[in-house]
Amino acid sequence: MEIKITKTNTPREMPPEEKLGFGKIFSDHMFIMDYEEGRGWYDARIVPFGNISLHPASTVLHYGAEIFEGLKAYRAQDGSVRLFRPTENIKRMNVSADRMCLPLVDEEEMLEALTTFVRLEQNWVPKSFGTSLYLRPFMFGNDEHLGVHGVKRATFMIIASPSGSYYAEGINPVKIMIESEDVRAVRGGTGFAKCGGNYAASTRAGERAAKKGYTQVLWLDGVERKYIEEVGAMNVMFKIDGKIVTPALTGSILPGITRKSCIEVLLREGYEVEERLLSVDELVCAMKEGKLEEAWGCGTAAVVSPIGTLCYQDTEYTVNGGKIGEVTSKLYDILTGIQWGKKEDTYGWVYKI
Ligand code: PLP
Ligand code: COI
Repeated sequence: MEIKITKTNTPREMPPEEKLGFGKIFSDHMFIMDYEEGRGWYDARIVPFGNISLHPASTVLHYGAEIFEGLKAYRAQDGSVRLFRPTENIKRMNVSADRMCLPLVDEEEMLEALTTFVRLEQNWVPKSFGTSLYLRPFMFGNDEHLGVHGVKRATFMIIASPSGSYYAEGINPVKIMIESEDVRAVRGGTGFAKCGGNYAASTRAGERAAKKGYTQVLWLDGVERKYIEEVGAMNVMFKIDGKIVTPALTGSILPGITRKSCIEVLLREGYEVEERLLSVDELVCAMKEGKLEEAWGCGTAAVVSPIGTLCYQDTEYTVNGGKIGEVTSKLYDILTGIQWGKKEDTYGWVYKI
């Protein structure tokens, strides 16, 4: 794939690393390519970061034809820049595209787009442990008329944001409210796809929880409001009576790459891992009996995020004395160790740029 590069004439400085936050600052350039039915993807280019112009009837603005991915470029201790399992994100992007009737991308071309872009933006990969250049590939339908149908024109872009920790709490335990009213996704819907609409629809519950002093919500399934699905925009795991339990991928849950990596690490470390339906009743029972030993969310942005408090129907339960647990810490150390090059990658997950 030929990628035309137009560099900015006004390069900017990255702010001090401790002030980065998450997703607020953007690097100097962005990747764009366009799609038309019959022609395929064309005009791959990297241009100075800036606004884009859309026709007011553009499909994405009316019918939400949008998907995205999220992965990070990490600076290892030797100064090199690496990605973590990027082909997993590329494959998932195509699963999302298929669900939303958007065009697929060629896996090798997308990897080339990512690596060419990150190489150009490498000065934007911060250096301190825990910081990274968050990469946001995304695609949207861009037909210029209002009929409802699969798209004939689309745009694919990659933008990059030097970032610190996702939650203000960092690796400190968060307070989570179990949500009984709104649902994030339903089987047969779009839960397994990473599409913008899932996030717009789940914001209300998150905001309500925030008003009550909780960082995020724990989602229950959309049919019976009985089984646990995810926590905020992360997968969720529990240590119950010595075993690790995580909700099975039933179609309404996003198959997280961090989830998959945690499972591989846990199995290698000798833990028993169960991917199955886990009801909120079973969880509450485990909390009452003191058998819920640990709970944590996992996702690219936060890596792992320990849950210190869970609230269900106005009763608060403290998990592991409100402190980060042993398994959560171990996962954090192993995953971040591999990502930031402090530990040898014996899994073959790191992709050097
Ligand atoms: N669940 C949802 C809804 C997400 O948005 C994400 C983040 O991408 C995850 C789970 C975790 O996925 P990953 O580990 O691939 O980042
Ligand atoms: C994650 O990486 O865990 C996320 O959920 C990203 C979020 C900003 C959508």
